[in-house]
Amino acid sequence: MTLRGKDHLGSLAEICEDLRNYLYYLKNLGLNTVPTSEKIKKFMEADLSPAPSSLKEIEHELRGCTRCKLAAERTHLVFGEGHDRACLMLVGEAPGREEDLVGRPFVGRAGKLLDQMLAAIHITRAEIYITNVVKCRPPRNRTPEPDEIESCLPFLHKQIQVIRPRLICTLGLTSAQALLGTKASLTSLRGQVHRIDNDIKLLVTFHPAYLLRFPQYKREAWEDLKLLKSLYGDLCTK
Ligand code: URA
Repeated sequence: MTLRGKDHLGSLAEICEDLRNYLYYLKNLGLNTVPTSEKIKKFMEADLSPAPSSLKEIEHELRGCTRCKLAAERTHLVFGEGHDRACLMLVGEAPGREEDLVGRPFVGRAGKLLDQMLAAIHITRAEIYITNVVKCRPPRNRTPEPDEIESCLPFLHKQIQVIRPRLICTLGLTSAQALLGTKASLTSLRGQVHRIDNDIKLLVTFHPAYLLRFPQYKREAWEDLKLLKSLYGDLCTK
């Protein structure tokens, strides 16, 4: 029998469901060692863990985290803050010095610029949620390394799962690449409406710290902000 179109998708969904049930069955029997590759094992662990029901639960999971080397020099883990059912989420790279000291995202110089950018499009911090890909400060504010992103990214995905925003705006290249699973450049990713997790729209813009260093890009950032405002109006205020 040849499967076509919707039939095909239906069968695929059934196979996935059967496989999932089979794996649950094995797990319930106490068999946690199905012979498989490391990659598949990781996928299965992630898939079989129950979805978190609240941000508090995720924050609790991260308490005292030592999953990567950034734990060594951390003062505070910076989990994120804002409305726990926000329609818009902003995702930065990683906490800097000030954020590490107080445990809140975007409170330093870049944060002040972010506040001004938000004010320019009449969006308040209270109505949105702000977090980072990596929750602990990298030494000397260097870019997070791939293993650090890999350890922390599942927690960002959990935050997204709980908050269920309709719109995400990534600030800078690190968060854009991490959430879109790409190595593409910021230039090529800006100015488009991307989609992740089926129906969450995602925009990419400059990191405010980058705009502090290279103010000549503020004009382009303003174009991004106008697009953000327009999508926010359509998706979040109607
Ligand atoms: N830069 C970021 O990416 N995040 C912060 O929280 C602060 C600065």
